[in-house]
Amino acid sequence: MQIKSYLLNLKPYPPGKTIEEIRKDLKISGKIYKFNSNENPLGPSSKVIEVLQKALLEVHRYPEASYFELKKVLAEKWKVSPSQIVLGNGSNEIIEFLFKTLLKEGEEIIVSEPSFLMYEKMAEIYGVKVKKIPLKEDFTHNFSAILGEVSRKTKIIFIDHPHNPTGSTLKREAWEIFLNSLNSINPKILVVVDEAYAEFIEDLEIPQGIEFLKAGYLIFILRTFSKAYGLAGLRLGYGITGEELAKVMDKVRQPFNVNLLAVKAGLAVLKDEEYLAKTIQVIKEGRKYLKKELEKLGFKVFPSQANFIMVDFGEKAEKIYRKLMQKGILLRSLKAYGFYNFLRISIGLPEENKILIQSLKEVLNEV
Ligand SMILES: Cc1ncc(COP(=O)(O)O)c(C=O)c1O
Repeated sequence: MQIKSYLLNLKPYPPGKTIEEIRKDLKISGKIYKFNSNENPLGPSSKVIEVLQKALLEVHRYPEASYFELKKVLAEKWKVSPSQIVLGNGSNEIIEFLFKTLLKEGEEIIVSEPSFLMYEKMAEIYGVKVKKIPLKEDFTHNFSAILGEVSRKTKIIFIDHPHNPTGSTLKREAWEIFLNSLNSINPKILVVVDEAYAEFIEDLEIPQGIEFLKAGYLIFILRTFSKAYGLAGLRLGYGITGEELAKVMDKVRQPFNVNLLAVKAGLAVLKDEEYLAKTIQVIKEGRKYLKKELEKLGFKVFPSQANFIMVDFGEKAEKIYRKLMQKGILLRSLKAYGFYNFLRISIGLPEENKILIQSLKEVLNEV
């Protein structure tokens, strides 16, 4: 047996801890508040719970293999053809399909540094080279530097938009200049616009990737049910792209890659417009509230259009993180992203956000 040498030092993706893990690690018996994984604070849609209770009686069956119905509903939502939709076991799985379909060992992708870690993790697994382009000073993607790094080996550019972990976004004009310039450098490079958090965009000048797909650019849009739709535990994501690519990606997936419960829950939550609207409202209000309160305490909060904010806690960030954790308040450390003074906070319910601010005030007296 010879394990591929480049896999020997692979570091797995550092996931946010679950409530059970924290309870066990820190021996906390009280309530635990999760501000660490950008999940939906409302809990699942009641329509989803209803549908899943019935669907439990069917779990001895395989799901319908082509996912015809879910693709049809998504296609209607985006006004594209069902053959342009790719479904995955979370959008993470679709990132892997992109590698399977488009990248050979030794070829290259471009990502921002930092950005969502799965792009480079997947590149390591597939022996693909990663060019990392530092964000600009305002923590937005540096489009002109990215263009400057394009080479003959570049096959995909990954842009998480809103960006994880900063929440930054770019205006329509910046996108247009970027996509047009890339087109003139090499029209065969695929731009993956990862819109895991796009439902939370408030600023009307921030475009959605679908506009560019429809305008004819070579784009792959990644979307997830894990955030605004509250289905993180069921693992459901999708991509929208040109038919040619979507059809091949549909062939590289495992049969039944999306499980029966995920399909049924996805269909149910897409119909629950009230749940989505409520989620978006809670996030927008919570984002404003936390920004205001954190700024009052003297911390810098970076502009975010996502369901989280990144906050500069200075040199005390690690201490604040640990002290809050001991109180059962989990934030996300950004050390894995190279940010030592910053923490990421997922927006919670109004009462949870208040508890966070109150606990932070207590902690600040101690550190
Ligand atoms: C930018 C970004 N893309 C994709 C994902 C993956 O989401 P999923 O749960 O659909 O795999 C995440 C999850 O945190 C993310 O932050």
